[in-house]
Amino acid sequence: MELILDTADVQEVKRLSELLQVTGVTTNPTIITKSGKTPEQVVDEMLSVLNDDQLFFMQVIAQDFEGMMRDARKIHALRAKNVLVKIPVTHAGLKAVKAAKQEGMRVLATTIYSADQGFFAAMNGADYLAPYVNRMQSFGDGLGQVKDLLQMLKLQNLPTKIVAASFKNSYQVHELIAAGIQAVTVPPSVVWDMLDHPGTTSAVDGFSEAWHAAYGRDEVL
Ligand code: E4P
Repeated sequence: MELILDTADVQEVKRLSELLQVTGVTTNPTIITKSGKTPEQVVDEMLSVLNDDQLFFMQVIAQDFEGMMRDARKIHALRAKNVLVKIPVTHAGLKAVKAAKQEGMRVLATTIYSADQGFFAAMNGADYLAPYVNRMQSFGDGLGQVKDLLQMLKLQNLPTKIVAASFKNSYQVHELIAAGIQAVTVPPSVVWDMLDHPGTTSAVDGFSEAWHAAYGRDEVL
């Protein structure tokens, strides 16, 4: 499973990459605008922090086909090896997914609100699909739709990976990992929630206290 961080916060990417196996970073226009930085600053900072094996995902802004392709080529040109273009699954976007794949780009089809939208984007050759789990909950069973999409790709022998997105809590992430999802993109705050448990902190403190009380030192040997 690939763990991707959904953030423009370079410090969080550094911190979590030290602790965990992080495959890459996704951004979207909202994440970038909220960072208070220019898109160029976010791109420069992220590409300087990510290593050559990690992926960086950036989304097109234009809504028409020609504009999407212009944006996609600029994103692809940043570092073709490990920068992927995110394209929303509108009508123009589905056409752009096909065209971008024909031009040799790696593509993530995004803003997916139903299993059917994701399935058609996969048929167009998308490398990744980003269903918006939490946002889908407003229209029905988001987790169920993503699990359906997982089955549809498997049964139809499509190689596209799902990178489930738009998570608001650790339960949503846990459910999809347990269902066999190929990748998740998670905000750092939710990743920290998944890592931390008061039981672990108190157990480790208990071991240290017992050792110190018995041997008067904090080193093992
Ligand atoms: C990631 O690729 C998506 O853009 C992101 O997870 C959307 O999340 P949101 O629903 O918090 O905007």
